[in-house]
Amino acid sequence: MRTTAPAVDGAGRSAALIDRPLRLAAGTLATNRLQLAPMTNRLSAVGGEITQADIDWYRGRGEAGFSTIVTGGLSVSPAGQLHIDQPRADDDRFMPGLARLSTARHPGTVMLAQLLHGGLRVNAWEERRAEPVGPSDGVGVRGLASGEVEATLDDFVAAGTRAVSAGFDGVEIHAAHGYLPAQFLSREENQRTDRWGGDFTGRARFTLELVARLRAALPADTVVQLRISAEDMRQSRGIDLDESAALARLGAEAGADVISLSVWDIHQPAQKHPHITPTEHVKAHLGDVAPLVVAGKIWTAEDAVLGFAQGADALAVGRAAIFNRAAPTILRTQGLAAVRPPVLPSSLVHEGIAPPFLAHLLRRWGGLFLPEDAAASA
Ligand SMILES: Cc1cc2nc3c(=O)[nH]c(=O)nc-3n(C[C@H](O)[C@H](O)[C@H](O)COP(=O)(O)O)c2cc1C
Repeated sequence: MRTTAPAVDGAGRSAALIDRPLRLAAGTLATNRLQLAPMTNRLSAVGGEITQADIDWYRGRGEAGFSTIVTGGLSVSPAGQLHIDQPRADDDRFMPGLARLSTARHPGTVMLAQLLHGGLRVNAWEERRAEPVGPSDGVGVRGLASGEVEATLDDFVAAGTRAVSAGFDGVEIHAAHGYLPAQFLSREENQRTDRWGGDFTGRARFTLELVARLRAALPADTVVQLRISAEDMRQSRGIDLDESAALARLGAEAGADVISLSVWDIHQPAQKHPHITPTEHVKAHLGDVAPLVVAGKIWTAEDAVLGFAQGADALAVGRAAIFNRAAPTILRTQGLAAVRPPVLPSSLVHEGIAPPFLAHLLRRWGGLFLPEDAAASA
């Protein structure tokens, strides 16, 4: 098990690992191995339009050195929308806003639109009260009829097509974190007995169909990146590491150009196979069929080296990029410390975090902050 950083030979080690170009798809080259992890930022308008604050956030992080920007989850259908200000790709009327976002990117960055359907978790967010749909009937959840499953696949494809027509370089399918594709994968949440449920083949079908249909619908030089969870964590339920490893491989064989693995903490061993990390396990199954991106507590150059040593081909960085505008520089520089939580909320203003994003972090990610009056007592 490699859960501690390997010896670092030379101060430039992580920079050398990061500053290698990565071919994401035919014709789409990322200039380095850093992706901004998809993060819902609550910066879009109520109703789902992209705002100038969205544009500033993504452009700023591209400028800082992320070669690839994955947006926070875009709604693919009103039935799967998580919150009233979630950016939307579920109707043509949102294309001009998406086009403004893709046009205003930092030059040279690759932009991927994350496609999200909340499924049975649409009401996990405070403001929304919809009738949740999921793979199966449950308490307060209506199982999708097979015709609705097909229609939902069509919704993902239509949303991905809109994003690419609006200038995005591709899409990321959000099949992690307990949202609809993960609900189909789940041993607990999917009780279907038709072709969309049952054994692993049935439960994986929804995700693999998404990959195949998006790959067929989008131009060959665009990227289809598939994001999956490794194991149960937070709201993921019924996700098995061996199935995740098999899914990574099958996803790549079905046409995913890149596999993105969410592990939440690269320093932790796998729950199911504690002698190995989830990233090493998935990489062993995936091999070189497609590049593997990993996310989870990558804050420093030492963490970056560890991620690559575990088999990642690229790193997705979330919270470190919120707390540190200069995260890409920190990740390239051995011994450079990152600002880490908890911090005073007001300090994030200097990192380019707009007030609605900060309010969101305070509401849903409270452990990241010190009380504002801690400054006086510190
Ligand atoms: C504020 C916030 C919003 C997030 N929103 C999303 C999202 O929309 N889609 C997604 O796949 N993951 C989302 N995540 C998870 C991140 O992409 C990432 O996997 C996770 O934060 C672990 O990486 P980190 O330790 O670098 O933050 C979010 C995380 C944060 C902190």
